[in-house]
Amino acid sequence: MAHTPFSDLLQQDLDKLEGNLRKLLDPHVAQKDHLNLLNIACGRGDETGVLSKILSEKSKSAHIQGLDIRAAQIDQANSRWKSSLEKTRTTTDFITHRGDQLDELSEIDPPDIAFLRHQNFWNDRPVWTKIFDQALDKLSEDGHLVITSYFDKEHALATEALRSLGAIEVGSIVNPNSRLLSDAPGKSVDKHLAIFKKK
Ligand SMILES: C[S@@+](CC[C@H](N)C(=O)[O-])C[C@H]1O[C@@H](n2cnc3c(N)ncnc32)[C@H](O)[C@@H]1O
Repeated sequence: MAHTPFSDLLQQDLDKLEGNLRKLLDPHVAQKDHLNLLNIACGRGDETGVLSKILSEKSKSAHIQGLDIRAAQIDQANSRWKSSLEKTRTTTDFITHRGDQLDELSEIDPPDIAFLRHQNFWNDRPVWTKIFDQALDKLSEDGHLVITSYFDKEHALATEALRSLGAIEVGSIVNPNSRLLSDAPGKSVDKHLAIFKKK
């Protein structure tokens, strides 16, 4: 049987993410002249093209600020996306920074969307509780926080943590065609998506 190249699998994941994110955000994120998105724990920022496309449908211009603790991934994100998003009128900037130290980033504009793809709550609950708390705090007045998760249980735990921090879940999607990953049982790509607003 022919083997699907890994790059094709990644593209299929991104296509599904695009459809699901559009469905999730559409009823909640209003049209604005400019939208700011903060991509927390973004890794290489593979989804940056998808995010810029969706933001461009909702605004005349957008800025994506990404951050992660891994400098090598941030370098890759900057070299891949720095100059390739003019068509969608989106600027990008990726920095090596801890998501649990968002409070120190006084220079960034309040995000309309704080985005966490494949949040890692159960890996380190105290750190990710801080990340969620500070992300909610940073949001603009009418901003939203969006998460995706690999696992059912991890998603349930993250949702519970966000609720206890005062976030209100306003939408969610379970991805029925999520690609199964073989490195852990029950793990699949963007299996759950959810959107929250603050009280
Ligand atoms: C499961 S990966 C998801 C990466 C990317 N969002 C994706 O979906 O491909 C979790 C990411 O969290 C980052 N991370 C872990 N702890 C962090 C922290 N305290 N602050 C910022 N990023 C962190 C890791 O470096 C890693 O890139």
